[in-house]
Amino acid sequence: MRSFTFDALPGRVVFGRGSLERLPDEVDRLGASRALVITDPQTKPVADRAVEGLGDRFAGLFMDIELHVPEEGVRAARGAAARARADLLVTIGGGSTTGYGKAMALESGMPVLAVPTTYAGSEMTPIYGITSDGRKRTGRDARVLPRTVLYDPELTTSLPPSVTGSSGMNALAHCVEALYAKEENPITSLIAEEGIRALVRGIPASVQAPSDLEARSDAQYGAYLAGSALAVVGMALHHRICHVLGGTFGLAHGDANAVILPHAARFNEPAAPDALRRAARALGAKDAALALFDLARSVGAPTSLAALGMRERDLDRAAELSADPPSWNPRPVTVGDVRALLDDAFHGRRPMARAQVAS
Ligand SMILES: NC(=O)c1ccc[n+]([C@@H]2O[C@H](COP(=O)([O-])OP(=O)(O)OC[C@H]3O[C@@H](n4cnc5c(N)ncnc54)[C@H](O)[C@@H]3O)[C@@H](O)[C@H]2O)c1
Repeated sequence: MRSFTFDALPGRVVFGRGSLERLPDEVDRLGASRALVITDPQTKPVADRAVEGLGDRFAGLFMDIELHVPEEGVRAARGAAARARADLLVTIGGGSTTGYGKAMALESGMPVLAVPTTYAGSEMTPIYGITSDGRKRTGRDARVLPRTVLYDPELTTSLPPSVTGSSGMNALAHCVEALYAKEENPITSLIAEEGIRALVRGIPASVQAPSDLEARSDAQYGAYLAGSALAVVGMALHHRICHVLGGTFGLAHGDANAVILPHAARFNEPAAPDALRRAARALGAKDAALALFDLARSVGAPTSLAALGMRERDLDRAAELSADPPSWNPRPVTVGDVRALLDDAFHGRRPMARAQVAS
């Protein structure tokens, strides 16, 4: 007999080619009249189109986006919102840009309308992350959940293959960790499996042909599902390690995800065999860890921490930070476990076959 808890979250999603044109109506729908547009220089061309559509609803632009949402950056963005007398935050960009909007909303309660242009999935979640004193802290708060999300695959065709691959691996990580999360339930597992299938169709094809709108639509749909799963369940060891590698050692989030995911999947498999079987089924493979490693390699995403510039002498510290304080994981974790996992990840080793792990 089934027994589960599922927290449905509010939020409106507008998905499809050309949905950016609906931005002005969606701003009106939220009852807002002064939108601060938050974007980064690479996404500025998209933001320019949005600003044109907004007309006199446009109140100001903030573009000083830095990786991992540093506290002082959020303070500067809040200042920009106050000067613009904004009543709505419109984020246009990847997870870093969305993260600024969310961090601003945490204090002000200002509504966020998100237009995501990567596959990070942050737009679907009430999770925020802010970096201060060299550590990234994350939390959940209903105030940061965007009220409306516009997904337009046309806005992602400029995403370089390198970001497409890594960011796609980040979305896959949300699905995989949702399948073995503490709050795992039949609804998020359905969403996660379907998310993996859409990403496996969309990401490799988008890397090969960045302008293929069908592929971009699949990838974005998968990222949306992945974010929806992440929104209602907690993540585990994989995400903990990635936040340490990003917040303390400065690695880009998508890159860290691409490298760590196959190893985290292999590590957790003995404690969550059904979850990894479902992941493998959705990946169209027998072994999820190997399939994830091969997928990362095939889409040109990084598979080694060394290639990302991580220093071997920092692995001990990264392992300590990832395991202390301990966070929930299907398989209990020691500092030594994380250190061994990081060693494989540093050297870019293909995860061991299951038989070798068991022996
Ligand atoms: N809170 C959550 O639920 C959640 C979920 C996932 C990720 N995150 C956070 O999001 C961040 C990572 O997000 P990300 O991987 O999207 O990285 P990002 O936002 O830094 O974007 C990656 C790169 O892609 C570029 N880019 C984005 N859109 C583009 C476009 N349309 N054309 C060309 N270039 C474009 C950006 O300029 C950037 O250089 C991390 O801080 C991570 O912790 C949060």
